[in-house]
Amino acid sequence: MSAALRTHASRVDSQVELQRNTNPRMPRNIIIDTDPGQDDAVAILLALASPGEIEVLGITAVAGNVPLPLTQKNARIVCELAGRPDVPVFAGCSAPLTRTLVTAEHVHGKTGLDGPQLSDPTMPLQEWHGVDFIIDTLRREPSGTVTLCPLGPLTNIATAFQRAPDIIARVAEIVLMGGAYFQVGNITPAAEFNIYVDPEAAEIVFRSGAPITTMPLDVTHKALTTAPHVQGFRNMGTKAGTMVAAWTDFFERFDKEKYGSDGAPLHDPCVIAYLLEPEMFSGRHVNVEIETKSNLTRGMTVADWWRVTDRTPNAMFMGHLDADRFFDLLTERIARL
Ligand code: BDR
Ligand code: CA
Repeated sequence: MSAALRTHASRVDSQVELQRNTNPRMPRNIIIDTDPGQDDAVAILLALASPGEIEVLGITAVAGNVPLPLTQKNARIVCELAGRPDVPVFAGCSAPLTRTLVTAEHVHGKTGLDGPQLSDPTMPLQEWHGVDFIIDTLRREPSGTVTLCPLGPLTNIATAFQRAPDIIARVAEIVLMGGAYFQVGNITPAAEFNIYVDPEAAEIVFRSGAPITTMPLDVTHKALTTAPHVQGFRNMGTKAGTMVAAWTDFFERFDKEKYGSDGAPLHDPCVIAYLLEPEMFSGRHVNVEIETKSNLTRGMTVADWWRVTDRTPNAMFMGHLDADRFFDLLTERIARL
């Protein structure tokens, strides 16, 4: 590219950035990277129910809660449920960068979306690999206009960054569900599932220099699906409302027993809720390192919450959520579908 063209491109890029910052009506372009998972499914529905604020450019599936053939299929089921078979869905990586895949059927059931009866999707899976879609989209769209929303292990994102480091500077923001500080761990005493499954990928992403906002268990454990919330979804009398109620009914049984709580944490929708109403969250911009060496604490997010080191902050690590506001938003949006 010539110097003149480069200057022009960067001026266009900064104009778009300016517009996005000053024009709240301009939808934010996102890629959802996901391993559905009932809570991933609710997150996708929330995004697709919010076209005024969010434009889903594509969904990339990754192996996580269940293996890739199921996560890509589940992503298409959810798009069809939202009446959006036009959203392109891509299959990404089928295994972590260096480790054997760990899955979570004990939470999400054999299909990942256990609970209600579901039909196979009829919309096609895109032929392109999910990682190629991420790379191409970040290169094609103006720099600083595409937000990545990972809801599962970070394998696809890390692979894209490794293969095409030039895209890192073009990412507007990465808003992801992963990690824990005060809540420590859910899959092991020390680690949250998404980071545990592919800690090497998480390390690449957290060290990439891209702006990161993370929703750890500390936040998502405040988004508890209590009985009145689930009843609210059921009362909608819509297909989407009924599905969300049936999904939460299913995965609640495991978490209620485990935590002795009144409901289960609705983890992944926190990412999309943050894009819609960031003021309902608060946290700290701190350094987060990922444990990759120890077997005992594999995948631990070592967050410098109290700022006791001089390590450079690399992530906005959320800690609090206005749960009433979160469920009001979720209920209002799911009712639109
Ligand atoms: C995360 O792991 C998965 O089970 C959920 O979908 C969520 O992304 C919570 O630890
Ligand atoms: Ca997930």
